[in-house]
Amino acid sequence: MEIVIVPSADEAGRVVAGIVARALAAGARTLGLATGSSPVGAYRELARQHREEGLSFAGVRAFLLDEYVGLPANHPQSYASVIRADLVDHVDLASDDVHGPDGAAPDVEEEARRYDDALRRFGPVDLQLLGIGTNGHVGFNEPGSSLDSRTRVATLTDETRRDNSRFFTGGEPVPRRVITQGLGTIRAARHLVLVASGRRKAAAIAAAVEGPVGSSCPASILQVHPHATVVVDEAAARLLERADRYRDGAGHAIPGRRS
Ligand code: F6R
Repeated sequence: MEIVIVPSADEAGRVVAGIVARALAAGARTLGLATGSSPVGAYRELARQHREEGLSFAGVRAFLLDEYVGLPANHPQSYASVIRADLVDHVDLASDDVHGPDGAAPDVEEEARRYDDALRRFGPVDLQLLGIGTNGHVGFNEPGSSLDSRTRVATLTDETRRDNSRFFTGGEPVPRRVITQGLGTIRAARHLVLVASGRRKAAAIAAAVEGPVGSSCPASILQVHPHATVVVDEAAARLLERADRYRDGAGHAIPGRRS
């Protein structure tokens, strides 16, 4: 696992965008996309590189991590809408090539199975972007999720619903149920890239990177993945005991960065 500590959230976004751009240049054709605030800086930088430097997503197939149950795809907070606004509308990713579970499907259990099958068929995902919840979740695999879980309907914790209420205006409740790729589904990706910034993520990052591997901190699966990269700003890194060692090694892990 490589840990990259950078001074700011903006720099974390640039580093992550650089990892994605290099993966595309090296032939990656299947991307796993996270939503929420964590990857927004990376998406902004990818859009800039598309606009100004000709970075192309042509021929790339993208898969979302998760979706709220009960929100139609055109709801502004559905992850189908969020990824359009944050990335797809700004690059040459064909919208037909952006896949996610349908949270408004009549049978969401069946929809979760269908989505997992699609991931098996088109996978493995070459590069999977991840954020992390304040409780250590990845995708919407809350603490206690099986490390081998597949895409399924899951229930959010009150903590996650509180965290995400900032995206829902006018008192609209955050849905309780979601369809999420499982930890086993996520682990099948070739390269996991997790990005986090800000003090409120520090405890989750410390648990994920330096705590025991287990379902109490779902993001700890990165410790047992053959190719995982964690990009954090100083605020999110502040509880890492081995931060100095990671700073020493970062230049070797990320081409183009100074050691
Ligand atoms: C979103 C997702 C979640 C978020 C996490 C952090 O697709 O899978 O795991 O990455 O809840 O959310 P933010 O980035 O908004 O703090």
